[in-house]
Amino acid sequence: TGAVTYDPGFMNTANTKSAVTYIDGAEGILRYRGYPIEQLAEKSSFLEVSYLLIYGELPTQQQLEEFDSLTRRHTLLHEELKNFFSGFPRDAHPMPVLSSAVSALSTYYPDSLDPFDPAQVERSTYRLLAKLPTIAAYAFKKSVGQPMLYPDNSLNLVENFLRGCFGVPAEPFEVDPDIAKALDILLILHADHEQNCSTSTVRLVGSAQANLFASVSAGVNALYGPAHGGANEAVLKMLREIQASDMKPEEFMTKVKNKEAGIRLMGFGHRVYKNYDPRARIVKGLADDLLAKLGGDDELFDIAQRLEAVALEDDYFVERKLYPNVDFYTGLIYKAMGFPEKMFTVLFALGRLPGWIAQWREMMEDGNTKIGRPRQIYTGYSERHYPS
Ligand code: CMC
Repeated sequence: TGAVTYDPGFMNTANTKSAVTYIDGAEGILRYRGYPIEQLAEKSSFLEVSYLLIYGELPTQQQLEEFDSLTRRHTLLHEELKNFFSGFPRDAHPMPVLSSAVSALSTYYPDSLDPFDPAQVERSTYRLLAKLPTIAAYAFKKSVGQPMLYPDNSLNLVENFLRGCFGVPAEPFEVDPDIAKALDILLILHADHEQNCSTSTVRLVGSAQANLFASVSAGVNALYGPAHGGANEAVLKMLREIQASDMKPEEFMTKVKNKEAGIRLMGFGHRVYKNYDPRARIVKGLADDLLAKLGGDDELFDIAQRLEAVALEDDYFVERKLYPNVDFYTGLIYKAMGFPEKMFTVLFALGRLPGWIAQWREMMEDGNTKIGRPRQIYTGYSERHYPS
């Protein structure tokens, strides 16, 4: 073995080639399969973007209809899988509930587990796309103590998910088109982001030839971390703490700059973007529109905007090229839609799913399945002897 390069955090190591997503961090550019995120957010749908990411091309009208009906037809969960939900404590965080249920899918679908059989990969793909919203809605219902609703396949993926969360058996459910449209756009913005922590996790687990359900379940767990997908929940917690403490946003920023108790401005900074995150720009526009319509929490939105205004002018943030990332304003929108904070990262997972699937399939299809196995720099004892 030759010399080993030390690169903790993979600051400078590419571990794959990929044709899925392009990011230029210096310029703040994001494209899926070559299409700018701004155009997809404005003109496409989450279902179409999922197809684009997974299959590489935009679908024809007929392909989209087939994909739509396939994902609608598989929304039901196995009845026995439903028992899982009653085993968790009432206040369980929905992210570990989600990853457990996704992991359990491997036990119900033995016909979908071979990573090298295209028909099986196809089955695990549409099962995941169709069932993740149902699992997420069940986790939500569990946390609020309401009955779980069977999906209604006359609705599309986003509408069905909203009904699964906010509908009750006793009353017909009316989808609010503004909320459905905004959620669809947010899911598009989260759909892929090249080799981020959860996607790299999905690839690493898949490189051991683990099936797609097992790999995606690992991705959900990685996303749960506050430095990654958990940041959207952490942002709202931070805004509420600032509000409750009567602290001025400017005072909070002084604490961040002094690194008091390791406080960070959550929703700011990114490993790759050293410019305004293009997704955050779109989210900010959505927040402006939607909070006006739905009557969001103006005070928290105001605090967030003041934090951003300070950061964009302040040397600490300017020198380190710290800008709002996708998580900074999303929580305020989710809150206005009626989601509790615990659900925010679940919404991120729903969005990121097609990216995880696309990247896992790309790895398998490329035959690029050399097992991921980093090296190390050993810092422990040299040989020593067990006392005789
Ligand atoms: N607030 C205050 N200081 C920060 C922040 C922040 N949010 N982010 C980075 N810094 C400082 C950091 O202290 C360091 O300064 P110094 O050189 O003086 O020690 C410098 O900026 C570089 O930071 P880093 O931690 O080395 O950068 P990284 O690329 O390892 O971390 C990050 C990227 C996203 C984990 C980090 O910026 C962070 O913790 N942000 C807050 C959490 C967050 O919003 N995460 C969501 C990321 S985007 C979507 C997603 O992936 O889920």
